[in-house]
Amino acid sequence: MKEQLEKIYQNASCDLEKVSSIAELEEIRGKYLSRKGEFNEIKKNLKNLSDEDKRVVGALANEITQKLESALRAKHDEFYKKELDEKLKQERIDITLPGKFTSQGREHLLTSTTNEIVSIFQSLGFSVVPKEHSPEVETEYYNFDALNVPKDHPARDVQDTFYTELASNVVLRSQTSGAQIHAMEGKNPPIRVIAPGRVYRNENINARKNNFFHQIEGLYVDKGVTFGDLKGVLNEFIRIYFGASRPTRFRNSFFPFTEPSAEIDVQCIMCEGKGCKICSGTGWLEILGAGMVDPNVLRGVGIDPDVYSGFAFGMGVERLAMLKYAVDDIRLFFNNDERFLKQF
Ligand code: DAH
Repeated sequence: MKEQLEKIYQNASCDLEKVSSIAELEEIRGKYLSRKGEFNEIKKNLKNLSDEDKRVVGALANEITQKLESALRAKHDEFYKKELDEKLKQERIDITLPGKFTSQGREHLLTSTTNEIVSIFQSLGFSVVPKEHSPEVETEYYNFDALNVPKDHPARDVQDTFYTELASNVVLRSQTSGAQIHAMEGKNPPIRVIAPGRVYRNENINARKNNFFHQIEGLYVDKGVTFGDLKGVLNEFIRIYFGASRPTRFRNSFFPFTEPSAEIDVQCIMCEGKGCKICSGTGWLEILGAGMVDPNVLRGVGIDPDVYSGFAFGMGVERLAMLKYAVDDIRLFFNNDERFLKQF
């Protein structure tokens, strides 16, 4: 039995020599030291020996199992350390590397410009119309008819306005002025509102024109509103938005829905009034149209023009941003080049 024990120990030592991983070590542990392992099989037979032999063989069996166990433990520690080293080497982190930068998004220049304009008008007593009073898809009634635009006006032409396939009278609005009609319908003055939003025009795209852009419409109707009020409010807006030193001018103009009508120009920031490509050599860029609401328009929405009067205006958001930040191409707002966007 002694010899048997020695033999098993030798085999186990031999096996141990060949082991190369913790997993293989566990196999050996199972083979020799588990309950069904070879040593246990021998220990089971101890009961058949004499007391004397039992003591000797038992002691030897214990000694050998302990030796084997400590050899296994030593191997285990060795492999564990080796495997850990390997893993650490593979997963090594170089903390001197610069790291991955995730750039932060920000408000689009058109959004911040719109918000700025809106908050100026809010400070002057205007409130923003609810969304449903400023839809981008309109009937011709709101985009043209109710605004006193004649049936044969060239703006109605498909060359200028996008008609939809929803119905022959449904258009992508070409101006935010339709919001004036929504704001007045079924309401009594005083009405003092603004309506920011997107408009669409069938244009050839170039540095100055895109086939959609943004406007902010304004309307003030009450008893005794005069052209002086119009000038006062718009001059105050310009003073706050551009600062007092930027030259501006009022020009008379014509719109079907206002009488009299005016346009406001701001000195071109690109050439400081000397004349350049952007301002077609004039030194000025138009930022808005305005005027006293035409009595026909008031009558159309059931407001008596003998009692009430009002002024309206519509400004281009891209124009206002271009003129404040010297943006010389309207397409920059829409092709979303981060190098442009992140400057603002
Ligand atoms: N809707 C005009 C346009 O898009 C701008 C405009 C002019 C708006 C006069 C107005 C206004 O409210 O009174 O060119």
